[in-house]
Amino acid sequence: MTVPTHNRVLSGMRPTGKLHLGHYHGVLKNWITLQHEYECYFFVADYHALTTHYEEPQIIGASVMDMVIDWLAAGVNPSNARLFVQSAVPQHAELHLLLSMLTPLGWLERVPSYKDQQEKLRERDLATYGFLGYPLLQSADILIYKAGLVPVGDDQVAHVELTREVARRFNHLYGREPDFEDMVMAAVRKMGKKNAKLYREARKRYQEQGDQESLQHGRALLDSQVNLSMGDRERLYGYLEGSGRIILPEPQALLAPASKMPGTDGQKMSKSYNNTISLREDPRVIEQKLRTMPTDPARVRRNDPGDPAKCPVFQLHRVYSDDARRDWVVEGCTTAGIGCLDCKQPVIDAVLAELAPLRERAKEFEQDPQRVRNILQEGAEAARDSADETMKEVKAAIGLNY
Ligand code: TRP
Ligand code: SF4
Repeated sequence: MTVPTHNRVLSGMRPTGKLHLGHYHGVLKNWITLQHEYECYFFVADYHALTTHYEEPQIIGASVMDMVIDWLAAGVNPSNARLFVQSAVPQHAELHLLLSMLTPLGWLERVPSYKDQQEKLRERDLATYGFLGYPLLQSADILIYKAGLVPVGDDQVAHVELTREVARRFNHLYGREPDFEDMVMAAVRKMGKKNAKLYREARKRYQEQGDQESLQHGRALLDSQVNLSMGDRERLYGYLEGSGRIILPEPQALLAPASKMPGTDGQKMSKSYNNTISLREDPRVIEQKLRTMPTDPARVRRNDPGDPAKCPVFQLHRVYSDDARRDWVVEGCTTAGIGCLDCKQPVIDAVLAELAPLRERAKEFEQDPQRVRNILQEGAEAARDSADETMKEVKAAIGLNY
């Protein structure tokens, strides 16, 4: 039987440098939770990195292993999630090519990140074919596994939206079959009387009343059928929703719980602001960075009271401290009862405690790069198997199966 995929999670990260606390709090912690709840595919988007770094691919090569070691050190577990490198699964590129045939140029030109990034990265020439296709390559990443859920930051939601449109267009063009209704009826009969009746009822309720719960019921019912072929299942999903056969299901963005990990200057932590603490940073450097972090500029002398709302250190207390300690900060700061170094110490301790086990685990992998390569190889093999199934179907739907 074919595996239903709406619970499949897929996400990727570009290898363009070391991971830092912003990645950890914003992305990795979320992945680590998801890996226990869903079938997860996490990959290194090296082709995506190449769209912007094609003139200096060394950075990509140098970052891939480091990034995967950071994932593993943070707790992403290869027995729960498939980890691999995008370029090791050629089907991403193949599907990208086929999708490019049916994607109107305007859809790509309208994606906000296209112009934004071109303006932001002025020192690079991004007037390339590959860069325009960036979001479509991302669509291929998602659709090749028929992933249902894509954990991303809000800057990526437009890319998932494009993916939905491209999938819809693909299904519309290639999911229409002249004998669709007959095939559907035959498939419904294969479910047996009782289930067929439940399916028809769910479909009616969904289509007449837009009842989402009925849609979920209908899908769950299809998922539980063991004697439906992949093609029949796609027809019945489609018929349930009122469309043709759904070959490439539309994914949904899964917005990570908001995390605004502040950097050492109070702005969002980001490599381009030079305010990061990397996951394997030397503890002495961490301490140094935090001790010299700017505070409320009004607190010039130890006796001057301050305002935590105007202090980047207090934003770190929002991440690392409980209510009691935050009360201690507010009280101590506004009355000049504590000094800024006193105030920083618990944050320093918390960051060091958070990163110590990561550093230890990273060390094991650093000493055994072959183990990391094996993990990536196994991940890629599994990914290729699943990508290959989709590719076969996609080619057959278009008629490229001579
Ligand atoms: N574009 C994403 C980013 O910059 C990385 C990425 C590539 C991705 N392919 C993906 C994320 C597929 C989710 C799904 O962060
Ligand atoms: Fe900032 Fe703490 Fe100093 Fe107040 S006491 S200014 S919150 S570092």
